Amino acid sequence: MAKTALITGASSGIGREIARNLYAKGFRCILCARREDRLKELAAELGENTRVVVCDLSKREECFALYEQIRDEKIGVLINGAGFGLFGRFCDTDLDTELRMIDTNITAVHILTKLFLKDFIARNSGYIMNIASSAGLMSGGPYMSTYYATKAYAADFTSAIARELEEQGSKVHVCALCPGPVDTEFNDVANCTFGVKAISAKECSDIAVKGMFSGKTVIVPSAALKLAAVGAKLMPRKMLVAVTGRVQSKKGELE
Ligand SMILES: NC(=O)c1ccc[n+]([C@@H]2O[C@H](COP(=O)([O-])OP(=O)(O)OC[C@H]3O[C@@H](n4cnc5c(N)ncnc54)[C@H](OP(=O)(O)O)[C@@H]3O)[C@@H](O)[C@H]2O)c1
Repeated sequence: MAKTALITGASSGIGREIARNLYAKGFRCILCARREDRLKELAAELGENTRVVVCDLSKREECFALYEQIRDEKIGVLINGAGFGLFGRFCDTDLDTELRMIDTNITAVHILTKLFLKDFIARNSGYIMNIASSAGLMSGGPYMSTYYATKAYAADFTSAIARELEEQGSKVHVCALCPGPVDTEFNDVANCTFGVKAISAKECSDIAVKGMFSGKTVIVPSAALKLAAVGAKLMPRKMLVAVTGRVQSKKGELE
């Protein structure tokens, strides 16, 4: 029987490319997002055995319903890819959108990681990849404050769980993918543009999947960003946030 992977955020960008990559490696894929037409298109490309589950992960009850629908499918890989950002000064950005972001980028990732991790631990096998961001390694991002904070949550929480599993001698692996700019629909949704050249979603997903199966805990898919992440650890927090803010402010129009 083929191994099965659940990929959230599979209707676009990084999630869609990770689904293609895992399918090419022999995984049966369960694709999840809100846009059913996109998911069906990808399912048709990947083959008959692919399953589509339409789900709004910003709603807690839909996260639990997703798990209940597929818990018997012996999921071996969970990719928590669904997420989005929002550009602007905190005092100007829309509160409802930000609360939805917190629900999607944090709460859904938290719920699905908890539910599937328990099953994986019981079987002593499985991989979970939480798509965080290099934003999550930067101690705060002015003009995308909520987004940076959600990604810090994803990165920190994943590293902590990875350590707990390691100390238990578990064969379950969890990792955080922390990319910099990737060419997807992210900017259209967040209402911004990247200041530096983005890598393709395929390049990002190839590095991500390779890193996950080789047991890495934090995957940063670019040499320059790895260096920036090390630099970020050495810089005083206030200075780091100021530098991040300067870079961020060039990403869009501020009111
Ligand atoms: N692109 C970058 O530069 C970059 C860098 C670092 C990290 N990331 C992270 O990578 C992940 C994927 O983003 P992307 O760049 O591939 O952007 P994208 O092309 O906009 O894809 C985002 C995906 O998330 C899904 N999604 C959003 N809200 C959802 C909800 N409420 N319920 C279910 N699915 C939802 C979208 O599907 P539907 O709209 O169909 O629901 C879509 O499949 C995100 O977590 C993002 O924060 C991106």
